[in-house]
Amino acid sequence: MNQVKIGKSQVETAPLGLGTNKVGGHNLFAGLSEQDGLEIVRAALESGIQLLDTAFMYGKGRSEELIGEVIADFPRDQVIIADKAAQDFSSGEAVLNNDPEFLKKSVDEALRRLKTDYIDIFYIHFPDEKTPKSEAVGALQKLREAGKIRAIGISNFTPEQVKEANKDGYVDVVENYYSLIHRDEEARLFPYLKDADISFVPYFPLESGLLTGKYTKDMTFAEDDPRSKNEKFTGKAFQNTVAAVDTIRPIARQHHVDVLQIVLAWYLANPGLTAVIPGARNAAQVPGLVKSLDVSLSKEEYDQIDRTFTK
Ligand SMILES: NC(=O)c1ccc[n+]([C@@H]2O[C@H](COP(=O)([O-])OP(=O)(O)OC[C@H]3O[C@@H](n4cnc5c(N)ncnc54)[C@H](OP(=O)(O)O)[C@@H]3O)[C@@H](O)[C@H]2O)c1
Repeated sequence: MNQVKIGKSQVETAPLGLGTNKVGGHNLFAGLSEQDGLEIVRAALESGIQLLDTAFMYGKGRSEELIGEVIADFPRDQVIIADKAAQDFSSGEAVLNNDPEFLKKSVDEALRRLKTDYIDIFYIHFPDEKTPKSEAVGALQKLREAGKIRAIGISNFTPEQVKEANKDGYVDVVENYYSLIHRDEEARLFPYLKDADISFVPYFPLESGLLTGKYTKDMTFAEDDPRSKNEKFTGKAFQNTVAAVDTIRPIARQHHVDVLQIVLAWYLANPGLTAVIPGARNAAQVPGLVKSLDVSLSKEEYDQIDRTFTK
């Protein structure tokens, strides 16, 4: 895989990464198997994926521990770990905390769970309400100077908060919600990121599976299936997305691949994005993600998909 650079940092990675909220994320998803989690990470690294996107919040440290187990078998410089923190459970429940001391403690504890001595990209997972944004980022800059992290990220920050956080020019990468059906960041954030040499990594690129092409208009979900309560998987929104995804099918047939690979190829060709981190539920899904690297979309195909999905 070719390499991309993360902001102004020294971190370089293959642009197709792996989202790992289903690796040990028992607090977020029901019925996950840890064995599957270990196998997903191993399959990804064996296929040339380097960037592993994790967070303390995925299993309250369990995702980091499982990743730590797998990466012990790989050369450390072949793995790019992106980790996040902000949820402070010291009161018993999750409270957002960007206090410099809390971020320092979070990085030290994450290093122990990952069994490594540096984290390639460390994100503030969510902004809190009290800490000045540039002070929180300043704390990460000190951790970078100490060699504990290599690049500074922020996640779920509004465009105004991104600018405030980057007052001293230390921010390398923003990770916010963005997908073919959720493109607000293009107009409100991308121009600033380009000017400031800040990378962008979208989360939910496959809209939790909705953009893989495996859904049809007539599908409904049982009441105990979380999708039945998710507005993206019900009603008009679901119908509209499935109809838009269906327009990709002829392009997929032309390339002898599935819709999923075309969608990922579109992100990989999108100049606003630096890397893509689709998630997988089991190791069998990983080759389907990697296959997207074989697809090269023509300008016409790229533009057709661009026009079909509402900005
Ligand atoms: N910074 C943040 O606040 C934040 C928030 C959310 C997520 N994230 C990150 O973004 C990553 C991506 O988000 P996500 O994993 O929630 O959702 P996603 O990438 O939009 O979708 C992942 C889902 O796509 C489906 N899929 C993947 N490969 C497939 C294949 N080969 N064939 C068929 N279906 C396939 C699976 O659906 P099924 O489950 O139906 O099998 C899988 O669970 C996360 O893992 C996490 O690292 C960050």
